[in-house]
Amino acid sequence: MNAPVGFDPHSHALSLPLDQIDVSDPQLFSDDIWRPYFARLRREDPVHFTAESRYGPYWSVTKYRDIIQLEVNHKVFSSSWTLGGIRIEDIPSGYERPSFILLDPPDHDEQRLVVSPTVNPINLANMEELIRTRTSRVLDGLPRGETFNWVDRVSIELTSMMLATLFDYPIEERRKLIRWSEIVITDVNAPDAIVRSEAERFAEQLKFTEHLNEIWEERRKKPPTFDIISILAHSDVMNRMSIRERMGILILFLVGGNDTTRNSMSGGLWGLSQFPEEWRKLRANPALVPSAVSEIIRYQTPVIHMRRTALEDTAFAGKEIRKGDRIVVWYISGNRDEEVIERADEFVVDRRRPREHLAFGFGIHRCLGNRLAELQLKILWQEILARELEIDVLGRPVYAYSNFLRSIRSLPVRIRN
Ligand code: HEM
Repeated sequence: MNAPVGFDPHSHALSLPLDQIDVSDPQLFSDDIWRPYFARLRREDPVHFTAESRYGPYWSVTKYRDIIQLEVNHKVFSSSWTLGGIRIEDIPSGYERPSFILLDPPDHDEQRLVVSPTVNPINLANMEELIRTRTSRVLDGLPRGETFNWVDRVSIELTSMMLATLFDYPIEERRKLIRWSEIVITDVNAPDAIVRSEAERFAEQLKFTEHLNEIWEERRKKPPTFDIISILAHSDVMNRMSIRERMGILILFLVGGNDTTRNSMSGGLWGLSQFPEEWRKLRANPALVPSAVSEIIRYQTPVIHMRRTALEDTAFAGKEIRKGDRIVVWYISGNRDEEVIERADEFVVDRRRPREHLAFGFGIHRCLGNRLAELQLKILWQEILARELEIDVLGRPVYAYSNFLRSIRSLPVRIRN
């Protein structure tokens, strides 16, 4: 389902009474028409209350500095799964799968500390050569003069191999992981959903967990290494976990490390194709790659929102929040806040402070894998530039029906001969 022909989101966003603006509709993101709705909120009502939505009442925090202020206040604004978790939609009852992204301190901090060695600087340095070899192989194997889907041939290929490495999972079976990841993130109401109910989703998640749990138990008997499963298997804290909690942490890495980076690989190409002058600048000066990578992540903003729940009555940015209220921080909007980011709707490869964006969140839950994501994107763009690939983007990206992850399903491209 697409917006009707002739529909103008700009005039629609301006014509709505303020109290009827509901930015949680997944259609806004699949049609890619979200910008004017958030622009109006940032301008007229930056912390906005929507009384009625398909998920119930919620607050929207839409400006950069407010998002930071909210995220650092984890004592009042909780991520806990027991209160509904981190998505605008409450976790369906009976299908909970706790992991540290869904915990507050001290449990959050204890578990995060256990898994952080997976992405420590030494481990990342060790992975660099492997990532470069694989990236080179994937780029060299792409067709020339022929249309193909960048998402499938590049973004999924590279991130699925990374995921297999993080789990030390058989590389030739990596697409199994991708299928499970798709199952976890799909909106069961989407027209193209691959599972149609929470029960069906949960049954698949259980199969995934049982499969990885076998590997977990095997690793426990072997000397420790730096893959995630080995780290989990050699930790007392993690080994005390129930199967539900194991499901939670395995799925956190399955999705957290995969879909987000994949969509940056697709969204970055789209962004550069829309700003050819910037692409030329990057070609002329490959030293700009690290800054372009941060811009890609900001421009794409792969995680659209996170949600918190108020633990007490509190005043926030001039509004009275009640205990139990659901508060959504819209990274996609904060990253377009002109008060902090100049020409925020434009893709600029050489921003002065390119890492100042909200795509990785802020505060104690700030993305654990941010340096790994940047590394993969850096290598991809260095290798594209080294080959002087001329990539024509032949159509618009197709976005998933989701208000949580900004997933790109396809992006048709052709590489010149
Ligand atoms: C461009 C790629 C990525 C983006 C945009 C991204 C974004 C995010 C965001 C927004 C959060 C939550 C922050 C919050 O709740 O305040 C997060 C948390 C997390 N991410 Fe990422 N992520 C990316 C890549 C990765 C990778 C590659 C990994 C795997 C190694 C990863 C693992 C995690 C984990 C484990 C958490 C939970 C941290 C916590 O609760 O303390 N992410 N990420």
